Amino acid sequence: MILIKEKDKLFLYYNFALRMLETEINILVDEFVFNHGYNPVEHIKSRIKSEKSIKNKLKDKGYDYTLANIKKYIHDVVGIRIVVSFLSDVYDIVSVLKNSQDLIIVKQQYYIKEPKDTGYISYHLNVLIPIYLNNKTEYVEGEIQIRTIAMDFWASLDHKIEYKFSDTEKIPLEVYDKMYENSLIIKELDKKMMHLNETVNKYENDKKTKNQGKYE
Ligand code: GTP
Ligand code: MG
Repeated sequence: MILIKEKDKLFLYYNFALRMLETEINILVDEFVFNHGYNPVEHIKSRIKSEKSIKNKLKDKGYDYTLANIKKYIHDVVGIRIVVSFLSDVYDIVSVLKNSQDLIIVKQQYYIKEPKDTGYISYHLNVLIPIYLNNKTEYVEGEIQIRTIAMDFWASLDHKIEYKFSDTEKIPLEVYDKMYENSLIIKELDKKMMHLNETVNKYENDKKTKNQGKYE
C-alpha cells in the first residue's frame, strides 16, 4: 500500500523537477539562438507520466506499484521532448545540454546511430535534475528525448498504432514490418533534408559575402 502523504511529496518533487528542467532548457536554447542567430527548435513538449502509465510500466517490468519501485525503475516520470528541424540540430542540442552546469547526465541512448528494432529513431538523455528546497538540494531523474520533426512524425504514428492493439494482443507482423520499412524512409529523408539545408546555407553565406562592404 502506498502512503498518500509520501506519494504526494514524491509527485511534488517530480513537478519541481519538471519546472526546473523546462526553465533550464528554455534558457540554454535562448542562449543558443542569441549566439548563432538561428533557432533549431520546432517545439518542446513536457509532461509528468500519469499514475496509470506508471502502474502499467511497472507491471510490464514485473514490479509492484510501490514508491521505491517508481523511483528505482521508472526513469521517465519527468519527461521532456525537444523536437528540432534538422539531424544536425539534434547534435547541437545534445551538446548544449551536455554543457549544462546543472544537469547531471546518467545515461545516453543513441537510437540514431542504432535505431531500436521497431525502427524508432531518437536521442535520449537521462539526467539528474537538482531541485533547490528550503534547506537542501535533492536530485530527481528525468528523461529528455531529442529528435527531428521527421522522427517525431514516425514515433507519433507508431504510438497511435500501438494503442489500437490491447496489452495482450501482439502487433501483426505485417504492420510491424511496414512501420520498420517506413522508418528507413524517415532516416533517409532526414539526411536529404540536412544536406539540402547545407546547400541553402551556402547560398545564404554567398549572398552575405557579396553584400559585404556595399554600404560601408
Ligand atoms: P525505460 O526508460 O525504463 O522505459 O527503459 P528504456 O531506457 O529501455 O526505454 P527507452 O528509453 O528506450 O524508451 C522510453 C521512451 O522512448 C518510451 O516511453 C517512448 O516514449 C519512447 N520509445 C521507445 N521505443 C519506442 C518505439 O518503438 N516507438 C515509439 N513510438 N516510442 C518509443
Ligand atoms: Mg530510457
